[in-house]
Amino acid sequence: MSYPLERVRSDFPLLAGVMNGQPLTYLDSAASAQKPQKVIDRELDFYRHGYAAVHRGIHTLSAEATQQMEAVRAQVAAFINAAAAEEIVFVKGTTEGINLVANSFGRHLLAAGDNIIITEMEHHANIVPWQMLARERGIQLRVWRLQPDGTLDLAQLPGLIDASTRLLAITQVSNVLGTVNPLNEIVPVAKAAGVKVLVDGAQAVMHQRVDVQALDCDFYVFSGHKLYGPSGIGILYGKRSLLEQMPPWEGGGSMIQQVSLMQGTTFAAPPWRFEAGSPNTAGIMGLGAAMDYVNELGLDAIHNYEQALMHYAQEALKQVPTLKTYGPVERSGVLAFNLGEHHAYDVGSFLDQYGIAIRTGHHCAMPLMAYYAVPSMCRASLALYNTREEVDRLVAGLQRIYRLLG
Ligand SMILES: Cc1ncc(COP(=O)(O)O)c(C=O)c1O
Repeated sequence: MSYPLERVRSDFPLLAGVMNGQPLTYLDSAASAQKPQKVIDRELDFYRHGYAAVHRGIHTLSAEATQQMEAVRAQVAAFINAAAAEEIVFVKGTTEGINLVANSFGRHLLAAGDNIIITEMEHHANIVPWQMLARERGIQLRVWRLQPDGTLDLAQLPGLIDASTRLLAITQVSNVLGTVNPLNEIVPVAKAAGVKVLVDGAQAVMHQRVDVQALDCDFYVFSGHKLYGPSGIGILYGKRSLLEQMPPWEGGGSMIQQVSLMQGTTFAAPPWRFEAGSPNTAGIMGLGAAMDYVNELGLDAIHNYEQALMHYAQEALKQVPTLKTYGPVERSGVLAFNLGEHHAYDVGSFLDQYGIAIRTGHHCAMPLMAYYAVPSMCRASLALYNTREEVDRLVAGLQRIYRLLG
């Protein structure tokens, strides 16, 4: 079956819009993806017909909202092939998921003298929480360095691991380079040495099937808003045996078993132990609709379509004089580049005038910018709704800027 591109585009109302008087060319989905009508409708429908506080009420509306929320938890478990719904924690996003692991697993199960490995291509969300933990607890942070082509040298990993290594925190797909880290080769090396693995899946779940059991990672995090779902909702997956050892990070309602002013508090079982306070229920419903949407199209079909578009874009960009791209040939989702010596902000501002939305700046990956010795890069993302015509518009826009600025 051919990919239903036209229908897909019509599912996303915002894509029919204009920006600066030009048809919108939205190439910034890696920052945040647009939403299909089904996601918008599901949230509205929940507010219109199903809204109530969850986990608290005896009344029917509350019981139904709770049941719907827990159904989405089970849906997430199926989406990433977790062994059980209890391994799925609702968080605000990837950032909060990683902070939860750092503050619970990190602060309580790691000790001074332990070390954690991260890579040089991580998003700040997978660097800063570990730096904060390291400083507070006397933990050492080790960095798996990049290679010029934007990949990691697998041969370096064993040399980074020693008897005190407790965690490898690594992105599945680089948000700047599009590098797909071969986790099927990396995770076994860590696991064989008894090292736990956290995978940042923020740039992966929308482009390829994810199977956390096959990966054998201990933690997996992603954000709803990059998966065509609402903002303010994300997922932390944790192996049940590990979540059970972890204390709560935040205290409050919904995460307790028993509270006594004199005897203290006992906590609920995971995942509820990690979900203090009222959750983003409408966001959870929207996330459920987003996964439905992606599942209906099929992640294999999406992957094949996006890969073909990526190859087309890589070829097409070669027509732009002075354009330098960063990252490996085989990549997923994003294309980072610079035009000559021009600052990415200048290039991005011109493209904006032509109706083309790309991301510019350090991409929350300053260490990666430092590695390539540039202050910023431009980044075009390719999502399930992007077209060859949009790539052509990007190329034409860049050629125009080259003619204007040299
Ligand atoms: C690889 C990666 N990790 C983490 C994040 C942070 O995601 P969020 O801001 O949704 O928490 C991003 C967002 O750009 C990302 O690309």
